[in-house]
Amino acid sequence: MKIQINARNRSYQFNVAQGQRILYGGLADGIHLPYECGSGTCGTCKARVTAGQIDDLWPEAPGRRYLKQPGEFLMCQCVARGDVSLEVTNFVYTMDPGACLPSAGSGVVRKPRLLTHDVIAFSVDLESPCDFDAGQFMMMRVPGVAGYRGYSMVNFERGTKRLDFLVKKKPGGEASEWLFSGNIEGQSVDLFGPLGAATFFPALAKNLLLIAGGSGIAGMMSILSRACQEHYFDQYSGHVFFGVRTMKDAFFLEELAGFQREFPQKLAVTIALSDEDVPVAATDQPGLMIDRGFVHEVAARHMKGKYQNMRAYLAGPPPAVDAAIRVLLLEAKLTADNIRYDKFS
Ligand SMILES: Cc1cc2nc3c(=O)[nH]c(=O)nc-3n(C[C@H](O)[C@H](O)[C@H](O)COP(=O)(O)OP(=O)(O)OC[C@H]3O[C@@H](n4cnc5c(N)ncnc54)[C@H](O)[C@@H]3O)c2cc1C
Ligand code: FES
Repeated sequence: MKIQINARNRSYQFNVAQGQRILYGGLADGIHLPYECGSGTCGTCKARVTAGQIDDLWPEAPGRRYLKQPGEFLMCQCVARGDVSLEVTNFVYTMDPGACLPSAGSGVVRKPRLLTHDVIAFSVDLESPCDFDAGQFMMMRVPGVAGYRGYSMVNFERGTKRLDFLVKKKPGGEASEWLFSGNIEGQSVDLFGPLGAATFFPALAKNLLLIAGGSGIAGMMSILSRACQEHYFDQYSGHVFFGVRTMKDAFFLEELAGFQREFPQKLAVTIALSDEDVPVAATDQPGLMIDRGFVHEVAARHMKGKYQNMRAYLAGPPPAVDAAIRVLLLEAKLTADNIRYDKFS
């Protein structure tokens, strides 16, 4: 089935398979359609049908609250019934040559393990190798649950046959219930990706500020892996702020301390505790700093006067990301282009 998209700057055509979400079809064809969450929440993938018919796979999607005009729909939740013409108000470009093109695939869950009472880590062994950029995420569909969920990759490796993830339990969340069921080793999951523009490339040539709330640390670990593999911190500084409620909720401390030990002069890692004072002997990982406060407040305190030539990456719950964006725009005076974020909505 043919999809014709008329964007603000030009038009594109691509094909979608029966049942393929229009957003995923366009992205797989290298067309950078507008999106953020890929899963029906943010409303960024809004488009308007001008000819043809579509089916909405999730008419209750929260992102539909952003639809105002007749014919508007979410490209990440809708499929075409036949040939369709659409209109989007954004500028749309093709992806850069060399970009990791998203595609559909599947994999098998391996080595699930609890990192805290409500955080699980696991790997997905892929049927075929995949490239992704540091900071990207996959859409994942788990057995018996409708729709895809976004999860960021923790590892970084070109041509990898293994993706590492970490997931924070969402009480009552359907995919969460499945992931924490204790019975996922060897089970198959569907994937679409990689997606996301909060990516890090060593050619950036800027100092890095990474601010993560809870499971937002996932993509930061991927960025740190890539930066350390490429000895990026020989030349540029890195400042990592990882916000959790209490020390009991913290994880990956050994791994973060390992990165810090490789570049002790240039890389600083601070754990921000929102709900408890810094305990005596908080961690046996020398090199990690621990401070009290919400992660954006702790970052603002530690970073005063250190924002020169800086690119910031933020990830985590939307209120934490929004608070950090405010600090970076208003206090640090970073330009919007130097603030890359994923809201885990
Ligand atoms: C870019 C991005 C990266 C993320 N990375 C991580 C990460 O690394 N680790 C982590 O813990 N969390 C991450 N999240 C958050 C994670 O995606 C949510 O916590 C997860 O969607 C919760 O799913 P659930 O099934 O447990 O909860 P639910 O409340 O059951 O579902 C939540 C989401 O699933 C989708 N959904 C629900 N029902 C349907 C349906 N019928 N049809 C289609 N879609 C449906 C919607 O997007 C909804 O918002 C990320 C989110 C985004 C946007
Ligand atoms: S990308 Fe479709 S609602 Fe977020």
